[in-house]
Amino acid sequence: MKYESASILIAFFGLTSAAPMPAPKNVFSIPRAMLRGREVPQEHSHNRFLDGVRVNLNIDNPAKIQDPVFGLLGNAAAAAGAGSITNLDCLHQATADQAFTNAKAAGNVTGQADALMYAALERNTGSVGLASVICNETAVNPEIEAVQQHQDPASTGAAATNKAVVLALAKQLASIGADPQEALLSGTFAPGKIGDTTGAGNTCDVADDVEGCIFSQNLLVDDATAAEITAAVAGIASSSSSSSASSASNSTAAADTAAASACAASVTATVVSSAGAAKGTATAAATTAGTNVQTFTGTLGGAAPPVISSSGTRPFTVNGNTFVGEGAALQRSCSIQNTACSNAANSGSLAGTSVADCNAQETACNAAASAKVKRAALDFGTCSDPAIEFAAGLDGRTENSFQAVNQVDFNHGSALNIGVIASFVCQQLSSSCKAGADAIAACATAQTAAAAATGQAAADAFNSALGVSAAKLKFQRRSVDTPAWI
Ligand SMILES: *[C@@H]1O[C@H](CO)[C@@H](O)[C@H](O)[C@H]1NC(C)=O
Ligand SMILES: *[C@@H]1O[C@H](CO)[C@@H](O)[C@H](O)[C@H]1NC(C)=O
Ligand SMILES: *[C@@H]1O[C@H](CO)[C@@H](O)[C@H](O)[C@H]1NC(C)=O
Repeated sequence: MKYESASILIAFFGLTSAAPMPAPKNVFSIPRAMLRGREVPQEHSHNRFLDGVRVNLNIDNPAKIQDPVFGLLGNAAAAAGAGSITNLDCLHQATADQAFTNAKAAGNVTGQADALMYAALERNTGSVGLASVICNETAVNPEIEAVQQHQDPASTGAAATNKAVVLALAKQLASIGADPQEALLSGTFAPGKIGDTTGAGNTCDVADDVEGCIFSQNLLVDDATAAEITAAVAGIASSSSSSSASSASNSTAAADTAAASACAASVTATVVSSAGAAKGTATAAATTAGTNVQTFTGTLGGAAPPVISSSGTRPFTVNGNTFVGEGAALQRSCSIQNTACSNAANSGSLAGTSVADCNAQETACNAAASAKVKRAALDFGTCSDPAIEFAAGLDGRTENSFQAVNQVDFNHGSALNIGVIASFVCQQLSSSCKAGADAIAACATAQTAAAAATGQAAADAFNSALGVSAAKLKFQRRSVDTPAWI
């Protein structure tokens, strides 16, 4: 998979060696023109782990590796950012190793986990089905040494190879006190077709997708089941990933303490209470200060772990893993709860509970999450969506005009000037609907946006500023008001 053409690589060399070193925290991005020429790379598919490695690599980077992204490229392209690393088959490992060393010195369990995850990511190779070379050097850290990269899912024996990669990674995550189930997130895509001359495969590569497009586009294929991971780490779990803080191993406790003091300037370390921790999956017990936005109350197999909302670019934290969006974080929390519940059901420790019960609980947990995220939309008070439509035939007019779709809450004749309707809607929101301040402010913005356009574009501008849709509202009203047989 992931074909890179030679001529483009020459261009790549020239430009990247001339480019300044990317500043820490900046996502290294290949110029657009190059992205167009290169076919199906995937080095940005798991961006969240590259971000974590970048932060920790930059603490101390004696080899002057330019960015973690180079370790995931084919050797020819990797050379441009390898610093003093000459064995390019080992740039990936060397990058992970250095980041792990730095994170360990800082007592940063998340940083160590990110380095391990990164070490397990697949590297680009020349064609669909071609596996990458395994590094022949020994890593400084035994944890990194124990982890190899994923291989192209279309390559020979990939399913077994990649499962072994994930299980080995899970053991190392457990050994440092991180969540072993996270190992699944290092997985790759569905196999591409051998002989596909476009090299298209099933990959994605979006440089500015903060989370990673394999997650946001839902392309990740699991290499193992949650139960297989739990079984693989069984011997390790008791010494380092026990859910209860009081039984945490000394080394984990020490790492957490170090992590806590390293973070003390900006966050308060708290211990995830045993009630809030999913059994067997609770990990590094340091969480950032903030509010728990997980409100789901189901407790089969233990409560869903807290989703801590704080500030920053990745404001949501679940068991030490950070997320950009609340929805994704809540979903993760529900999934962790399901894993704990399923493990308990399978082991017989939850009498009368089956895996199906756990799955039903996860469905309910996700439903509560999406209702919650939706509610976070604007508060229109007692009124429904104030969408405006632009259509012919309103009020018996022959020409196109503007009107609120919901004539019950926003009863006003149609107008040729959207300003008339927009200002009426905003007035109603505040006086009659008793809408929230957020909606009233958004309506003022929507009014301005609408005034800057004409026709359908004006209606669209108004609606999108308020997060509503005329078409959706009309459809909903039709399905409520009009029986299907009419
Ligand atoms: C630990 O490393 C992660 C990246 O893996 C980073 O986001 C976080 O800020 C680091 N924590 C501290 C306390 O430096
Ligand atoms: C690893 O492979 C490289 C390139 O083939 C070779 O130059 C080097 O000597 C090998 N190193 C070890 C430790 O085997
Ligand atoms: C932790 O350290 C204490 C005292 O040093 C020791 O008694 C205990 O067995 C250790 N616990 C673990 C899980 O290693």
